Amino acid sequence: MNLITFAQSIPKAELHLHIEGSFEPELMFEIARRNNIPIPYNSINEVKAAYNFNNLQEFLDIYYAGAGVLIHKQDFYDLTYAYLCRAANDNVKHVEIFFDPQTHTHRGISFETVIEGILEALHDARKNLDLSSYLIMSYLRHLDEDDAIRTLQQSLPYRDHITAVGLDSSELGNPPSKFAEVFSLSRDQGYKLCAHAGEEGPAEYIWEALTLLNVDRIDHGNRCLDDLKLITELSNRQIGLTICPLSNDKLQVVSDLSEHPIKTMLEHNLKATINSDDPAYFGGYINQNFTDLITPIGLNEQNIIQLAKNSFQTSFLPDTEIETYL
Ligand code: ADE
Ligand code: ZN
Repeated sequence: MNLITFAQSIPKAELHLHIEGSFEPELMFEIARRNNIPIPYNSINEVKAAYNFNNLQEFLDIYYAGAGVLIHKQDFYDLTYAYLCRAANDNVKHVEIFFDPQTHTHRGISFETVIEGILEALHDARKNLDLSSYLIMSYLRHLDEDDAIRTLQQSLPYRDHITAVGLDSSELGNPPSKFAEVFSLSRDQGYKLCAHAGEEGPAEYIWEALTLLNVDRIDHGNRCLDDLKLITELSNRQIGLTICPLSNDKLQVVSDLSEHPIKTMLEHNLKATINSDDPAYFGGYINQNFTDLITPIGLNEQNIIQLAKNSFQTSFLPDTEIETYL
């Protein structure tokens, strides 16, 4: 078996996936049509041509616009179930999915509509695809902390269906320190904690996520490599880093995939994992992320096994379940 086939067939967990970022243009057109919402593109090819980004903000502007066609519970169900089928096909056994409630509640869509569509799809995938899943509610960091606190309150009736909270959207200028209170309140509710940090922002933001938010896991975290003390801290504590290679390439976090630092991270004994982030926008799902990296950075069989193990070990699954995958 060659390395690509090996990476594709190995059981894995996906820990960094925005459900709104799995919105394929074909489904976007279909949902826009049935909801009678105009979109500024005439064809799938035109949509794909627009997916050319110089930085995170250019991507986010298009991503939020795309999410604007999601109105009904059925739309959220269809979006989620389509992703889950693709994940199962890539031998993903467990997935921890981000959703951004404020992207929808700010357009007048109720929290209930969003989460109930997603939860029903997760339930059906457990049954039909044998795919285990957790949900992570992500706060939008370009909005203020009071807005995140209101979102936390809206989530409480669904407390038992949400495993963790996260922090995403425009990183530069919106440091983790801005959200210390809502993260503390979220922890009080029993939610696990993670935050995007060190994608475009500096290593200092990763320190803030660790020391001020007390996160259990860092999303991205690429910039930790700028700070030797931080590398030691992350390695000693075996904090998970959910790395997203194709995203890093498309958002110019790395200059080229061949420059991707994930192998260096493994050499530092960091708990790096491979994930797809927003696969409909960045050119592929989790297996594509493995496949496209193997040759440019020379990932070997040992690296692939380690990355797959890391994905289960840094998941929010209970230890007894993690062991069944190792
Ligand atoms: N929301 C969706 N994808 C994101 C990313 N890569 N960084 C920050 N916020 C996001
Ligand atoms: Zn992300």
